[in-house]
Amino acid sequence: MPFARLSPAEAAALIAHGDNVGFSGFTPAGAPKVIPLALAERAKAEHAAGRAFKIGVLTGASTGKSLDGALAKADAISFRTPYQSDPDMRAAINAGRIRFFDMHLSMFPQNVRYGFLGKVDWAVIEACDINDHGEVVLTTGVGAAPTFGKIAPKVLIELNRAHPAALRGFHDIYTPADPPHRQAIPLTRVNDRIGSQVLKIDPSRIIGVVECNHDDETGSFRDCDEVTKRIGYNVAEFLAAEMKAGRIPKEFLPIQSGVGETANAVLFALGDHPAIPPFEMYTEVIQDAVIDLMRQEKVKFASGSSLTISAERRKAVYKDLEFFRPRIILRPQEITNNPEIVRRLGIVSCNTALEVDISGNVNSTHVLGKQMMNGIGGSGDFTRNAFISMFICPSVAKQGKISTIVPMVSHADHNEHSVQIIVTEQGIADLRGKAPAERAQIIIDQCAHPDYRDELKAYVERSGDTHTPQAVADAFSMHEQFIRTGDMHGVAW
Ligand code: COA
Repeated sequence: MPFARLSPAEAAALIAHGDNVGFSGFTPAGAPKVIPLALAERAKAEHAAGRAFKIGVLTGASTGKSLDGALAKADAISFRTPYQSDPDMRAAINAGRIRFFDMHLSMFPQNVRYGFLGKVDWAVIEACDINDHGEVVLTTGVGAAPTFGKIAPKVLIELNRAHPAALRGFHDIYTPADPPHRQAIPLTRVNDRIGSQVLKIDPSRIIGVVECNHDDETGSFRDCDEVTKRIGYNVAEFLAAEMKAGRIPKEFLPIQSGVGETANAVLFALGDHPAIPPFEMYTEVIQDAVIDLMRQEKVKFASGSSLTISAERRKAVYKDLEFFRPRIILRPQEITNNPEIVRRLGIVSCNTALEVDISGNVNSTHVLGKQMMNGIGGSGDFTRNAFISMFICPSVAKQGKISTIVPMVSHADHNEHSVQIIVTEQGIADLRGKAPAERAQIIIDQCAHPDYRDELKAYVERSGDTHTPQAVADAFSMHEQFIRTGDMHGVAW
């Protein structure tokens, strides 16, 4: 191999204070591990010596504890985009120590290429194989690696032996040309292949290769509880009814499913429902439930940007790669989340909300309007363009002290024009074709927790006879009540 072999510390020593680094991966899947860990050590040493050391971190989405976690703990990050979910990173963002730019994941790679996010000095890319021509086989995540590999003047490869080189063939790397030269993306079926199995990087830009053996830092899921099971059941019942009514064709439509415990529970419920036929997924993150449903032949095919599965599932998949090879494609995030494709394929999207208001606006990102949770991720890419767009959440949070159905969301990620269906464990609100007053009524009656229905109805009454039942002066009274008393109950309107 013509590339220099480097230790993690040698690689980290090449990156300078103030550099922007684009890391491969999407979620902890496919994110580099040993180079960022060495960078965190370097930052600590520099800080101890009284020198500044911070970098800008650009990734596909969230990453693992060796990247976001270690670098945030070492106070080594000045700027972060487009998504994160690490507790230390979140705390640093909310304390104002890291500038975080939250953005739609489909737009991120092209915005990097357009120069909207500044220069990218380095790409650090996890691979399971590389040849002398700079042909890199990615691992469990694709994300924005093709764009980083294309534009960064200097590239470091983390060759991770924990992933088999036989992953070659799972990826489909396609980068659209930038305007005014962009063409239609030639993908008309979930399982179409439109690109290359490998990421081609100009060998003269590959500064070195760091070998390691370090498993993906993905977590595992809790068993579904009664609330998440009920939400899953409600989603499955709704989709079965849509099929029965002829609004979803008998072949069914591709499903996009969001991240987290609730989204995983919904997939299991779809798999269990007798009226839902085996289906395909055109999604961002392939979670554990998809693997299990593939084994049961309930999921026929999954296209995603990452295989974000527990260690146990990963072991099983790697043992049986030939079963999964014809069933999974990993693509760049600008293809998995592409609005053109989402609308063409007729995707049914299902994402999780933190709170929903009585008009149908959704907050996916900010607790009480000001504390960043993770970011919008791909939820906007799918919601705005889906055949049917759904949001799911439990009707209450924090042991019932918070109603997730509120008069007005404290931060808006998805607006009433894009959100069609709301599902909680209480029921389903179908907002299609409904005027604002009807929406308010149906959301309160079907989705709000019974403990909060009277409070929400009293709010609607305050708005008087009008097109949209809102009383601006009182719109955040439930939030204020929680801030004052630790409980949203008992607002005196
Ligand atoms: N106000 C305050 N806190 C709230 C809340 C509300 N309205 N709703 C939920 N929470 C809290 C929960 O109590 C929980 O806190 P804890 O960790 O201290 O227990 C936390 O938020 C997460 O809630 P949980 O129900 O466990 O969420 P989840 O794992 O299903 O994830 C999101 C939910 C919204 C955080 C997650 O789906 C997300 O980040 N979505 C945005 C990105 C996205 O949709 N990506 C997919 C697109 S392809």
